[in-house]
Amino acid sequence: MIAPSLLSADFARLADEAQRVADADWLHVDVMDAHFVPNLTLGLPVVQALQAVSPVPLDCHLMIEAPERWAPGYAEAGARNVTVHAEACADPRAVARDLRAAGALAGLAIKPGTPLEPYLDVLADFDTLLVMTVEPGFGGQSFMPEVLPKVQQARRLVRSGHLRLFLEVDGGINADTIEQAAAAGADVFVAGSAVYGAEDPAAAIAALRARAAAATQE
Ligand code: DX5
Ligand code: ZN
Repeated sequence: MIAPSLLSADFARLADEAQRVADADWLHVDVMDAHFVPNLTLGLPVVQALQAVSPVPLDCHLMIEAPERWAPGYAEAGARNVTVHAEACADPRAVARDLRAAGALAGLAIKPGTPLEPYLDVLADFDTLLVMTVEPGFGGQSFMPEVLPKVQQARRLVRSGHLRLFLEVDGGINADTIEQAAAAGADVFVAGSAVYGAEDPAAAIAALRARAAAATQE
């Protein structure tokens, strides 16, 4: 699945920008609070407005503190998937339960320096694992291939039936890097600058999808 990140879109024309990626699988919305990450983007009122006009299900990536307090609101707003950061969560299982109860898929994100091992048990309660392939906070950064062993490890656990998860990668995904991420076992690819920086976002999505599919078949 390809999930264009609105972070690289024109914030004055969000409804139009959502339409431009109507053939994507999820629309990735980066919520930042200027505390968990050194950047501030948008919050629930904007997500509610987007939910009403987006042709694509919303994938909300909450880079915020106290996600247990705020995350369920995004699920209640109708987001398909809501992802919270493991580093910000005192009780990830409780958040997953609340998100699922509100009708969303529950996602857990880990930063590049965060190991996977401490979360293997709680991931049984999640639907998505988001492995950050840049430090969260900004678009347009370079892909960090050194985090791919975490994707490979998670893919092995999914393959062996120990976990059932979408494996999402976010940060620096473009036509040159998506194949390594796909080969490592990712199946949801967030791409901000590679889609919204392209002249034809629909063509960019198709090209990314084709490259990921080719790498998966190898
Ligand atoms: C970064 C965000 C990403 C960002 C990716 O903190 O989580 O979703 O938009 O942008 P690119 O694809 O440009 O690296
Ligand atoms: Zn993101």
